[in-house]
Order: sequence, then structure tokens, then C-alpha cells
Amino acid sequence: MLGALRAAAPRTLARAFHRYAAVDGFNGAVGNTPLIHLKTLSEMTGSTILGKAEFQNPGGSVKDRAALGVVRDAEAKGLLKPGGTVVEGTAGNTGIGLAHVCRALGYKLVIYMPNTQSQEKIDLLRMLGADVRPVPAVAYDNPANYNHQARDFADATPNAVWTNQFDNVANAGAHYLSTGPEIWEQTQGSLDAFICATGTGGTLAGTGRYLREKSEGRVQIWLADPPGSVLASYVSSGGKLMDREGGSVTEGIGQGRITDNTATIIKDVTGAFTVPDSKSIAMLYQLLDSEGLYLGASSALNVVAAVELAQKLGKGSTVVTILCDGAYRYQSRIFSKAWLKAKGLEEAIPDHLKKYAVLD
Ligand SMILES: Cc1ncc(COP(=O)(O)O)c(C=O)c1O
Repeated sequence: MLGALRAAAPRTLARAFHRYAAVDGFNGAVGNTPLIHLKTLSEMTGSTILGKAEFQNPGGSVKDRAALGVVRDAEAKGLLKPGGTVVEGTAGNTGIGLAHVCRALGYKLVIYMPNTQSQEKIDLLRMLGADVRPVPAVAYDNPANYNHQARDFADATPNAVWTNQFDNVANAGAHYLSTGPEIWEQTQGSLDAFICATGTGGTLAGTGRYLREKSEGRVQIWLADPPGSVLASYVSSGGKLMDREGGSVTEGIGQGRITDNTATIIKDVTGAFTVPDSKSIAMLYQLLDSEGLYLGASSALNVVAAVELAQKLGKGSTVVTILCDGAYRYQSRIFSKAWLKAKGLEEAIPDHLKKYAVLD
């Protein structure tokens, strides 16, 4: 019966199934995410707007790639041996990705984070087996800052490595080796531009570098930035300014400095868009309503910027961006009427989409 079905399947279908053959554990399931054609936005702009579905990674975000990349790099350099300890300073998706990767490979994971983070985040990391150490929330130049404490703990612990996601270019390397080639293959090289926001800069730098090289400089790389970040000002001023203004409800993106990861692409970034929270939140609700996608705010910000870039490049252009994670980790805020009101974002949501704000 199966044999007959197989014989009847067109060769292309057989190839597709082969591509989705069993993979090796959690780590084998990282990457190879779909590239989603955002139909309504493409129709609206007359361009092709594509979102890389990074929320489909097994740990739920784009950071699974970076987590796997920095751990594999530490192993390859002999810094991490069986039974060792991974140490990182993070309150977000990288910690979750690392927790999964470390469980899958038998490493211990110690996470330092500012003690201002929600109990929800601490609990999730603990449930995933991490040793979570909340420390006082002090500035980067204070030696007690959570990043320095992570480094110091790793230095003092045998067979331990501080994965240092911001300045360890193995982070960008993971995207150079996976996200970039996947997008190139999925678009068959037909994209005109790639745009996304940055936290560490790993996604923009690694994906952007690959697409620039593969297209021999044809594919443009653009930055999407939330208010409160210095990067848009840096890019728009040709590296002369690092101004910042305001703040943002988006999480995991925006920067106050040029990280070593960002440094590997910043000179090749054509331009930047600063996206206000009012537009990101409205897009988050619109993507749910018209595309059926339940996404976090950084993904929505990326899509706003992709639409604006497509309009700038003109009809017929193809723009790719990143759908970083789902709304699940933020839903108690994003879909709460009280929270939206407190953040002054209630009126940003068009009347016909207000029905999705179901929480009080
Ligand atoms: C939700 C979310 N979006 C975007 C990013 C940015 O990714 P990158 O660190 O590769 O710049 C992060 C990083 O933590 C994130 O958590």
C-alpha cells in the first residue's frame, strides 16, 4: 500500500518529504523554518513581503540558532567538554534556547539576569533545568552587572564557558551558516532586500553577510530599530551619531552600542527605519487578523519596516524579514486592555481589531 502511494507521489513531493525526514533530537530540529508569503501586505504594497517563521524553531524563537551556534563553537574550540557548564547573561529567548540545547547535550546551564525580570521568565528557565541567578540591576560599567558576573563565574569554574552572545561572533556565524542559505534557497536568490531589528546583531549580521556575498552585493541590508536604540541614528549618520530618543515595549531588540556581531555588517547596511510602538502594536493585531499569525512585538516591528522598505524600493520588489517569536511569552500584556492603556497604545489599535484585546 505504502509502496503504491510512494510510486504515485510526484518526484517533487518525494523530495519535500525527504527534506522533512527525521532529525537528530532538539538540535537537529533547529532551523529549516518556512518562509511565509504575507499575502495581504504583499497585495497592499504590490511587492512580495516574506517572513522567515523563526517562531517555529523548537525552543520557539530565532535565538535557538544562536544558542546552538555558540555552544557548538565552544565545543569546537575545546572550551567545553562533556559534563561542562554553559554560562550566559540573559533574561530572554537566548536563555530558553540555551536551556534546551544544554539539556539535549548534557551540559549544565547557569543564567545570570537582572533581578527586575518577571517571575514568569525565571520560572520558565528553571522549569527548563537552568540554574537562574537574579542579581542587582546595575549599569554595564558596574562590575556587578549581570554580564560581568556571568563571565567571572565561568572564569572561576572548571570546564565552563561564558557564551557571551553579544560579542561572540559565533552567534552571527550560526545565521551565516543557516538562516542566510535557507532564505537564498527559499527565494531562489530573487530577493532585493533583507531587513530586521537587532538585539545582539547576530541575525542581521550573519544573514545579511551571507546574502550580500551570495548576491555579489546586489541584495540590500536594512535595519529596523525600536525607539530608544542608538543604531538607526548610527546608520543614518554614516557612523557619526549615536542618538537615542524615547523607549519601546518591544523586547529583545534595540541597542545602546555596536556589539561585535553588529560590527561585522554595519558598514554594509544601506539605511534604517525607526518604528514607533504604535505602528508595531497595530501590525501585531493586523497580522493576527489578516494572516492568522500570533507574533511577538519584535516580529511585528520587523514587518512594519519590511512594508515601508518595499514601498521605498517600489512595486515588484521582494523584501524578506524575520518573524522572531510568538506572542505566547507576552500575551498577558499585549492583549490586556489595562496594559495597552497604561502604555498609551490603546488608540493605536484600529477599532475593528480591538476585539482581540480580550484580557482586562
Ligand atoms: C524576540 C526577539 N526578537 C529579536 C531578537 C534579536 O535577535 P538578535 O540578537 O539576533 O539581534 C531577539 C534577541 O534576543 C529576541 O529575543
